[in-house]
Amino acid sequence: MTEALPPWRPLLRAAMQREGRSVSARWVQLASTGRDGTPRVRTLVFRGWAGVDQLELFSDQRSEKVKELSSHGAAELCWLFPKARQQYRLRGMVQLITPAEQADLCQQRWQQLSDTGRAVWGWPTPAKPLDPSAAFPEHLSDTSPLPDHFVVLRLQVETVERLNLGPHPHQRTRWSAQTLWQEQPLNP
Ligand SMILES: Cc1cc2nc3c(=O)[nH]c(=O)nc-3n(C[C@H](O)[C@H](O)[C@H](O)COP(=O)(O)O)c2cc1C
Repeated sequence: MTEALPPWRPLLRAAMQREGRSVSARWVQLASTGRDGTPRVRTLVFRGWAGVDQLELFSDQRSEKVKELSSHGAAELCWLFPKARQQYRLRGMVQLITPAEQADLCQQRWQQLSDTGRAVWGWPTPAKPLDPSAAFPEHLSDTSPLPDHFVVLRLQVETVERLNLGPHPHQRTRWSAQTLWQEQPLNP
């Protein structure tokens, strides 16, 4: 039996479609808690849905965010759709899926990347001092082996908040998995 799509999913998809072919429609801001307890945020590419309420991102296990999320998986995504004038905030826990744990899944995700998309996993450790003699490949073909440090970040969405600046007054809506995604209108 297929699980029903939460009510916010078609709304989010419609907002995304309004962006047309713009690559930035798939850019999300991922906020996490730094290892010193202070906030961290950065942009990642939305890679797809793994289930009706599970969203996937790809990253590098050597990066700081992965260290943060492995000690504290709570995260929030902020997703802006400028043409629709809507902001979505998706909150939940991130599960880290590594090649050591789920080789087939990671291999499948690795293969779905473009050659230029894959290349960054061939680069030296993120945030280490730059070594001008180090190699930074521009492409990695789909036959290149899956790197051990590839990782899938799977966000289990627990709360969604949408702000729609289109109408007057603005609309703010919250859905929570706890209330079976019952829609709660809020003051904007
Ligand atoms: C448009 C854009 C897309 C990006 N996509 C990703 C991505 O999908 N995965 C990723 O790990 N980093 C991505 N980055 C780089 C991150 O924003 C960040 O600089 C890097 O992952 C290091 O973050 P950290 O030090 O917080 O771990 C992207 C950056 C930009 C500007």
